Amino acid sequence: MEKKVLLAEEQPEFGAGFLKALTMSPADVVNLMKDSGIRGRGGAGFPVGFKWELASAAVSEVKFVVCNADEGEPGTFKDRVLLENYSERLIEGMAVAGYSIGSSIGIIYLRAEYSYLMPVINKARERMTANGLLGKNIQNTEYTFDVEIRLGAGAYVCGEETALLESLEGKSGLPRNKPPYPVTSGYQDMPTVVNNVETLCAIPHIVLNGAHWYAELGLGECSGTKLFSVSGDVERPGVYELSMGSPLKELLGLAGAVDVQAVQVGGASGRTVSGSDLDQPLSFKGLPPGGSVIVFNNSVEMMGVLENFMEFFVHESCGQCTPCREGLPQLQRAVQDIVSGDVGSMEELKNYFTLTEVMKATSKCGLGQTAANCFVDIVTGFAEFHHENYQSHRRGSDE
Ligand SMILES: Cc1cc2nc3c(=O)[nH]c(=O)nc-3n(C[C@H](O)[C@H](O)[C@H](O)COP(=O)(O)O)c2cc1C
Ligand code: SF4
Repeated sequence: MEKKVLLAEEQPEFGAGFLKALTMSPADVVNLMKDSGIRGRGGAGFPVGFKWELASAAVSEVKFVVCNADEGEPGTFKDRVLLENYSERLIEGMAVAGYSIGSSIGIIYLRAEYSYLMPVINKARERMTANGLLGKNIQNTEYTFDVEIRLGAGAYVCGEETALLESLEGKSGLPRNKPPYPVTSGYQDMPTVVNNVETLCAIPHIVLNGAHWYAELGLGECSGTKLFSVSGDVERPGVYELSMGSPLKELLGLAGAVDVQAVQVGGASGRTVSGSDLDQPLSFKGLPPGGSVIVFNNSVEMMGVLENFMEFFVHESCGQCTPCREGLPQLQRAVQDIVSGDVGSMEELKNYFTLTEVMKATSKCGLGQTAANCFVDIVTGFAEFHHENYQSHRRGSDE
């Protein structure tokens, strides 16, 4: 169901959510987030209230709130729309996060390609400061908070929160071993909350309207609304806001998708569904609601799409761990073999699928754990094989 909150034309007065949060105790703000059921909008869907509770419990003089504005997933541009139009709401959300965990420093990690948005964000920051919503002893309380912007350098993996923290520290953007998690040992080894732009933009709305209101915006067991960047073969590409848990076909209806062979949901690392399977909900329990939805009509050669995705992942793998570094070129070769009709034995194909399982189970970060999703979905659902053994294998798995 289309439901506009973050993108609503009528927006609450800027700062109102933060001012209300200041009248509450930090623990009550954390509990409000827990009760609302909000989960991170950056992809992994970690519960926000729980993350903030862990950071709040960490004992440290210095803590950080980091906004992940790296938005590197192919086909995703919803955070850009929020940054362009609602930077004040974002900073307000960061201030609420900081208040609840006891942090006075916010950092926005902005992808290099969005550097043109720095003046927009800086203007929002200045407006907040001029209105007594940032700086020392905000509204004559003991609370102090300010934000700064740091630019990334273009690597997709730097969207992964620990690689992002390394990059912020001036090092190569290599994902860290976890645990420890950023909530206890993040930026400069201090407790750090990392949240997505969309997550943080939703926070002031929750503070103003309550946990129940937010929970009720979602369908079924889901909470809130979700933004989707829709592109590809649709009449009206753009960013749409729907109740979390809405069926994919509803989103496609809004965007004007008439000829649908396949839809890539949740970015290159998400899932590829067939045009005959659009009833599934966009939710953390259904199709990954990461943000990107790319529609392919029947003229598109899906194995060509897969070749592109594989090239992307081989290029973006940081090379730090073996399953991802070595596995991705193997899968890329497999795709080339399938396309050229040079599929080896059934055994060889099975080995590639086993490799996807190994990568999922043993890669160090989310990139390697999810990069093979598109291989599995597209090869299983869209590849044309003339290999007899493979056909009988598929028939077997269909039964
Ligand atoms: C390869 C990779 C890229 C990612 N890119 C982004 C990104 O661009 N933006 C984002 O918010 N989260 C991204 N994430 C997820 C972050 O690691 C992290 O879960 C998120 O920033 C936490 O915020 P949230 O809880 O508000 O979603 C990425 C994860 C992986 C594995
Ligand atoms: S899974 Fe890939 S991107 Fe992640 S640490 Fe390993 S090599 Fe690097």
